[in-house]
Amino acid sequence: RILPVLLAGGSGTRLWPQSREQYPKQFLNLIDDKSLLQNTALRAARIPGSLPPLVICGDQHRFIAAEQLRQIGMTDATIILEPTGRNTAPAAAVAAHFATEKYGEDVAVFLMAADHTVRDNEAFVRSAIAACGAASSGHIVTFGVVPTRAETGYGYLKRGTALDGDAYQVAQFVEKPDLETARKFIADGDYLWNGGLFVFRANVFLGELTKFEPGIAENAENAYRLGKHDLDFIRLHADSFQNCRSDSIDYAVMEKTALAALVTMDAGWDDVGSWEYLAALPPSDNSGNVARGDVFLEGSRNNLISANSRLVSLIGVENHVVVETADAVLIASRDHTQDVKKIVQRLKASG
Ligand code: GDD
Ligand code: MG
Repeated sequence: RILPVLLAGGSGTRLWPQSREQYPKQFLNLIDDKSLLQNTALRAARIPGSLPPLVICGDQHRFIAAEQLRQIGMTDATIILEPTGRNTAPAAAVAAHFATEKYGEDVAVFLMAADHTVRDNEAFVRSAIAACGAASSGHIVTFGVVPTRAETGYGYLKRGTALDGDAYQVAQFVEKPDLETARKFIADGDYLWNGGLFVFRANVFLGELTKFEPGIAENAENAYRLGKHDLDFIRLHADSFQNCRSDSIDYAVMEKTALAALVTMDAGWDDVGSWEYLAALPPSDNSGNVARGDVFLEGSRNNLISANSRLVSLIGVENHVVVETADAVLIASRDHTQDVKKIVQRLKASG
């Protein structure tokens, strides 16, 4: 049995202005008629033996999350609410305590980012099954994706010796390297991207977290134990949870543990990390434009356009990203889309 845990607490700032603090990207229908969260939950349900999912998100998003799960018929999902985000390490610990209490400490926990896209669901399920095998023998299993560029926003896994059943030891885990290091990894050929998915037995993960980050482990446990479990939600104990240092599972555990393993995943995976993800969608014309919504183009090439509430037209424009929403418009050159988060920081600073 495997418990899918959907981490849905991120703020998705690089997809501004469509992704907002009140409505971050995991809740948006960026690819099709379902949100990234809904697609993730449905993808997890394809894994044989998968239990009703656990969703962990910010308190302010509880109604969006509940409504989106209801829309896809997952009324048996559990939702845990964080008073404020503390990144993924505390959330993972809370998930492990929930899993232990509900299903026993040997249950496999499948930690999933709720804001990825996967084109080939069957290939995804094959990797997940292999990961469960390696997790049952006491590993913390990651999903390795063959890299296509020197991306600095991802973690990198160095493939080590082979284990049973299509898994490998992780010889080295490096989270978000600088560009020079990322280039070296790509040239080396032995490194894979970390797909941001993890499978582990609850007790194995909690043991490693306690070893490397006892403060996070203790405060997260208290936050779960002292939390309020009502009919619709589990609300974490605010003081305890806020006492957790904010850190990701990648830095807090994965870079340090000797128990890391990997399975490979060739499933058309994407993190939807910036507007460039649109470039992977089917083009709208022969000039390399990808347009969603009401868009008219004249003499324009290689643009990514998302029109959400009005008609958008481009004339003689090349290599730009144009995102229109009811109250904000983004126009950026395509090689600067990672800088969108700078705009969001400035907006936050100016209140
Ligand atoms: N509940 C909760 N609380 N969820 C969170 C929080 C939080 O405080 N912070 C982030 N998340 C969710 C995000 O919504 C996302 O679904 C997932 O956890 C991963 O967080 P990101 O912030 O998107 O991580 P990342 O993309 O920078 O890096 C991770 O994923 C990469 C692949 O996409 C790492 O695992 C990298 O190593 C990996 O390559
Ligand atoms: Mg991400």
